[in-house]
Amino acid sequence: MTRVSATRRAVCPGSFDPITMGHVDVLVRAAALYDEVVVAVLHNPAKSGTFTVEERIGFIESSLPESVSARVRVEAFAGRLLVDVCRDVGAEVIVKGLRGGTDFAYELPMALMNRHLTGVETVFLPGAPEFEHVSSSLVKEVARFGGDVAGLVPDIVHAALAERLATP
Ligand code: PNS
Repeated sequence: MTRVSATRRAVCPGSFDPITMGHVDVLVRAAALYDEVVVAVLHNPAKSGTFTVEERIGFIESSLPESVSARVRVEAFAGRLLVDVCRDVGAEVIVKGLRGGTDFAYELPMALMNRHLTGVETVFLPGAPEFEHVSSSLVKEVARFGGDVAGLVPDIVHAALAERLATP
């Protein structure tokens, strides 16, 4: 008997303003667990971020290793509930990285709310210890005042942070 199994698709959501090496780690690991990964860049059109949505998408696409890029696609969504994004792209699961207890406290109510709304499950991956202190907001603050964030963000982001944020 031939068994036909459905594609298992996950959504990795976030602001990605900008993507960090912590994000890259989670995306690569999500791609190892699921057939397809949709990186959902969720943004509020009323708020201007540090980088435009197009820039964020470009940074993500060029930061993914070739080994996973065929199974990972990056899409932007504005003013939408994450559960609606999951339904529209046909994803059965949300994957998020957790850096520690503070992340868990922030993420748990959202995971429970999303499950309440549509039944979509959230899978948490423990963040890589070497990136536990890395967040988009912190790397921007450090870069703004001339600190070195090399190795904590992809090279393309490192260059863009220096160009966009560094004070002379
Ligand atoms: O990278 P971030 O900013 O921590 O990502 C948070 C994000 C965008 C994943 C979260 O705010 C979200 O899911 N926003 C979409 C709107 C929504 O569904 N809100 C209700 C969550 S229960």
